[in-house]
Amino acid sequence: MNTLDPVLAGDWIVACRASDVQDRPIPVTMLGQRLVLFRTEGGIHCFADLCVHRGAALSLGCVREGRLVCPYHEWEYETDGACAKIPQLSEGQAIPLKAKVSAYACQERYGLVWVNLSGSDAPLLAYPEYEDSAYRNVIWGPQEVLANPPRIAENFLDVGHLAFIHQGYLGVPEHAVVGDYRMIEDADGIRSEEIAVYQPDPDGSGQAKYVYYTYEIVRPLTVRFTKRDRETGYLMTILLTIRPVAEGMSVAYGILSFNYDTGTTDEEIIAFQDMIFAQDKPIVENQKPENLPLDLQAELSLRCDRVSIAYRQYLRKMGVTLGTA
Ligand code: FES
Ligand code: CO
Repeated sequence: MNTLDPVLAGDWIVACRASDVQDRPIPVTMLGQRLVLFRTEGGIHCFADLCVHRGAALSLGCVREGRLVCPYHEWEYETDGACAKIPQLSEGQAIPLKAKVSAYACQERYGLVWVNLSGSDAPLLAYPEYEDSAYRNVIWGPQEVLANPPRIAENFLDVGHLAFIHQGYLGVPEHAVVGDYRMIEDADGIRSEEIAVYQPDPDGSGQAKYVYYTYEIVRPLTVRFTKRDRETGYLMTILLTIRPVAEGMSVAYGILSFNYDTGTTDEEIIAFQDMIFAQDKPIVENQKPENLPLDLQAELSLRCDRVSIAYRQYLRKMGVTLGTA
């Protein structure tokens, strides 16, 4: 994997849950880079996890009066990365100008923390459900996966496996045929038409019925679907977003959004999603080639694979090299 994929380095990548960053700095690895995240009154900040003095991990330090303090000799860094205090200097000795760590663009949104390594002006993706009071949102993850992100995202966009890998939950083998659908690409992005999926109990009432899935390709490492019940108007959306850690290693996060009362706790919703993901994980971790083939002739596709074909075409158009072949 080209861990410094320039396309992805210029995008906002999920670092962790916002709730993971409290009063202590935490380490996060992204695109092969070791980062430290910490919170001050001004929000969450992201540095390279490397003190310029002797290379200590700043994530082992602490936050003191709005500064990140290195654990080793307690140099103190301001939130822009500049060193503001070196305890070993005698009075009158200036702090060297080079005493500065790399600071990266970082923002907290949708219950997650996002980092842009190249500092590009790319906008953060939109996830309107999170800011819509009609929805209840549950953060899911982190889930470590021994695979590169494109295989994980494509699995999430794959409608044909629901009847088998998730049988009894998201489908049944007797209803494996996927109805025809087209992909739509316009100013709102790339998405499928609604796809009918027969589910044994989509809303917990015990009644089997068809529900309708719309899959959307949001960003190279972020995809979503909305499941709609045409009888009740119930909508459930899952946004899946993936952090590339290093070659063959990723961490997935999700936002699960419901416009109806599920009758279940957050913990129960997370446990269900963990169970579903545990069914996908061995498949994704063992697919060959590990890197998603962007040449459409490289694997055999069916009409029902149009969402994943569109995802491959999108990655190719964007020029993503990480986890692709
Ligand atoms: Fe960080 Fe010395 S290594 S202060
Ligand atoms: Co699955």
